[in-house]
Parts: sequence; structure tokens; C-alpha cells
Amino acid sequence: MTLSVSHLISINDLSVSDIEHLIQKAQSYKEVNIPTSLEKKNIFSLFFEDSTRTRTSFELATNKLGGDFINWDVKNSSANKGESLQDTVNTLNAMRPDAIIIRHSEYGAPQFVSTIASCPVINAGDSWNEHPSQALLDAMTIIEHFGSIKDKKIAICGDIAHSRVANSNMILLSKLGAHIHIVAPPFLMPEKFPISDVTTFDNLEDGIAGCDVVMMLRNQKERMKSGLIESDEQFFNDFGLTKDRLQKAKDNAIVLHPGPMNRNVEIADEVADDLSVSYILKQVENGVFMRMAIMDSLINKE
Ligand code: NCD
Repeated sequence: MTLSVSHLISINDLSVSDIEHLIQKAQSYKEVNIPTSLEKKNIFSLFFEDSTRTRTSFELATNKLGGDFINWDVKNSSANKGESLQDTVNTLNAMRPDAIIIRHSEYGAPQFVSTIASCPVINAGDSWNEHPSQALLDAMTIIEHFGSIKDKKIAICGDIAHSRVANSNMILLSKLGAHIHIVAPPFLMPEKFPISDVTTFDNLEDGIAGCDVVMMLRNQKERMKSGLIESDEQFFNDFGLTKDRLQKAKDNAIVLHPGPMNRNVEIADEVADDLSVSYILKQVENGVFMRMAIMDSLINKE
């Protein structure tokens, strides 16, 4: 099967069979074998925002499939000399990349790049908008554990207002039939959501009650007006995921977090480090296989 899209910009563009195809492919790389299907392929990474784990994950995924990963050094690049994004992409495009992976602080930048690039463009996070590869690896992790997402109750908790991870997950998990709880204090609750069917809670214990999955998010202070969060201690007291609070979720519930974690702010050490509930490192592991599946599916389209 080939994907119905040429780029990975938004989860909105993917069909349920695209999502299932990517998850199955990622799982087969994990369990069966890894082909050298990116041999002689040049994957350019173009990260205008800081990232270590996502970029490294794409780099390792490229290496595992035998491709070459070229890091466009944005910090030392001519973007700092006033070059427009369009000129940067035209320059890069002239080098004939096989894919461009972009992270950008501007909403819609990957979409814009996909209109001028002559290769697949993969959104590795744009502003507060979307982070599709993260949502896909999260779905893979949930399915690996529960077998399916349909009818699972999934709580996405914390700084929803500034989170592209929350947006992509809301769209993806609802496409796969989950019931979504959005749990945030009023000052971190967005005014609108990318899907219509969410239930909102402003209290963590109520929001995670009876849930199969509890996904915690970092407070993205770099995107907030200053003073929105009084103190980390206060936030943890009111909203941090402790073992005690986690009791409210289902007995076999799992905890996810896209990282980077702020320990003892949104999540207690005792939860983050309890590998019987914390699937956070499995997300990291699965991320590599999911990114392999994404790149292979987009680049080696028949
Ligand atoms: C997230 C991101 O950058 O959007 N992290 C990630 O990619 N794993 C979330 C965050 O920065 O908090």
C-alpha cells in the first residue's frame, strides 16, 4: 500500500489506513527486519527550533535504513543573515534532497515548504500547531500495549494551550476511536480544539478517572506570557501526576510523556521512574521505528 499523502504535514491529511499502515510498518521494523531502503537517499534536517530528541530520532532512523542525514545548520546559516525561508528551501532543493524534515516556530511553515520543495516534507513540529510524528509514535505505543485504541479513554493533561503534541494527538486518537479527556487548569485550556468531540476537565483527578492512558505534557513556558504559572511547586501541588492521583485511572493504565519532562512539576519522580506504568522510554524507542516507517513510506512511494 502507498500513503495517500506526499508529505507529512498534519494528521488531518492522513486516512485511518495511512495511520494503520505506518504503525504496522514501524512495528515490523521493530520486530522483524530493517531493510536498507534509504540507501543513497539524502535526508535534510532543517530545525529552526531547538530539538535534541526528535532530530536525533530522525537521524538514527535514517542511518538504520542506510540513508544519509544532512543537518542544515540553521544557527550558523544564512537565515541568520536575513535569508528568507523560501530562499533557504530553494537553495536546499537545488541539492536534490530526497526528503526535508522541518521544525519551525511559525505556524504553517512546513506546509509552505511543501509547496516549493520537490521532495516529501515532514513536519517535525510547527509552532503550537502540530507534531504528527510524535502523535504517530504515541499511537504505536498505545496499540502495542492495548492492541487497539478504539474506545480507550485517553487523558491529555497539562499545558494544552501551547502544545502541538496535544493537537496532533487529539486528531489522531479521535480518528482511531478513542474518547478524549482534555485536562488543564483554566489558564492552560485553549479556547478551541482541533476536533469537536472532547470532554474537558480542570481537575487532574477527575480528568484521569477511569482512563486507560494518561498523557502528561510539559509547561511550555517559552511560549507563555510571563507570570501565567505562579510557581512550579504550586503547579505540582495542584496538578502534578503523583502515584496517589494515578490511582484514579484504570488499574492497568499507562503514562506517556513526549519529553522533555519537568520532574516534580507535571510528573512526580515516583511515576516517571516506575517502569510498570511509565511508558515514556518506550515512546522514545518506538519513535525511531515510526520515523523509519514515515520516511520509507513517503520516499519510496511507487
Ligand atoms: C515536544 C515538542 O518539541 O513539541 N517534544 C518533543 O518533540 N518530543 C514537546 C515539548 O517541547 O514539550
